[in-house]
Amino acid sequence: MRNKSLNLLLTLMLSLAISACTSQTEDSSLPPNPITISTELSEIYQRSCKNCHEVQATGAPLTGDKKRWNTILEKGMATVLDRAMNGYLGMPPFGQCFECSPEQIESLITYMSNPAK
Ligand code: HEC
Repeated sequence: MRNKSLNLLLTLMLSLAISACTSQTEDSSLPPNPITISTELSEIYQRSCKNCHEVQATGAPLTGDKKRWNTILEKGMATVLDRAMNGYLGMPPFGQCFECSPEQIESLITYMSNPAK
């Protein structure tokens, strides 16, 4: 009998330890290292994305707001990229960069989620 409740206690402690680990990897959908972008991409960022993604009042997820970007990227890059290219609520299609390729948009998204400063 005593052993049984000890087992129960151990199981409980183990599951607590596991959930503690899970909360440490909270930002797991973000790129593990801060992202640097090319001069070309940086120019696109400056004249497009930045106008909204660094202005709180637009409601856009702000560049470097890891918590919010993590929640967005949890849906998977395919979905997020699709929304960015087709437009989604206040987000205009291609972020108004119509000459951008999907690869460039994807790089900009990755950059905004975890920018090297
Ligand atoms: C005119 C303002 C504006 C510009 C310019 C803009 N965005 Fe956005 N973007 C928004 C807003 C507002 C949202 C939030 C939409 C919502 O969830 O309500 C958003 C959301 C997003 C999202 C998240 C979509 C999702 O799945 O929730 C991505 C990715 C994104 N923008 C990428 C970009 C990129 C890349 C650029 C530059 C090429 C860009 N945006 C330029 C306004 C803008």
